Amino acid sequence: MSMEVGKALWERRTVRAFLPDRVPRETLEAILTDALRTPSWANTQPWEIFVAAGEPLERIRKIWDERTQAKIPTDTDIPFPNFKPEHRERIKELTAGRAAVRDMSTEDPAFHRDFHLANRRFFDAPCAVYLCMDQSLGAWSIFDLGAICQSICLAAQDHGVDSAIAINLVIYPDVLRSELQIPRDLAIVIGIALGYVDHAGPEDAFRSERRPLGEAVKFVGL
Ligand SMILES: Cc1cc2nc3c(=O)[nH]c(=O)nc-3n(C[C@H](O)[C@H](O)[C@H](O)COP(=O)(O)O)c2cc1C
Repeated sequence: MSMEVGKALWERRTVRAFLPDRVPRETLEAILTDALRTPSWANTQPWEIFVAAGEPLERIRKIWDERTQAKIPTDTDIPFPNFKPEHRERIKELTAGRAAVRDMSTEDPAFHRDFHLANRRFFDAPCAVYLCMDQSLGAWSIFDLGAICQSICLAAQDHGVDSAIAINLVIYPDVLRSELQIPRDLAIVIGIALGYVDHAGPEDAFRSERRPLGEAVKFVGL
């Protein structure tokens, strides 16, 4: 462990363009060994983690591309949320910020197409981590998976590896089940692309904003 947690928290960001350079297996093992220190409900450690790179990942990427071209509907194991207007507003702000660094309009279909296709290529990442859990588990175990998801991203940052948490990595779970031998009794919750940032990527300059402390947090009695 080297990087301060605070520094990793501020430096981690969703990288949406990766170089083809492989992440060495030892580095992945070090990242995941650190991340496995994540707390969970009564130490149940409900996560089952699959890591794909090389040929298997390229096969998955190819099928994603075929299904994207054929406009096959997505089918995540965990349903998409129903966002309220204030959440949708934040999505709009995110989209506007991403468009601004590209000097593009959010009205421009090319902007949305590029984003869609980059997502469907897993941002060209050389490695993908899939977080799964037993289908019978519920919200509290997803909570634990969320915690380890952030741990993986921070540990990756510590090891000089960039990341992108992406639902787009798990939109065709049947493909992941067959390509990675993920048992049917596991729900495939979320994917994390890992690799090294391509600074030539179209949105490299983009940094997402956060709600101010005073809005997101209510202090009581201090
Ligand atoms: C559960 C989850 C799913 C996400 N799915 C996607 C995705 O499919 N595509 C994408 O570009 N970003 C995705 N993101 C990244 C978020 O958009 C990003 O974390 C957020 O905008 C904050 O930006 P930052 O990660 O750069 O700090 C996802 C993040 C989370 C936590």
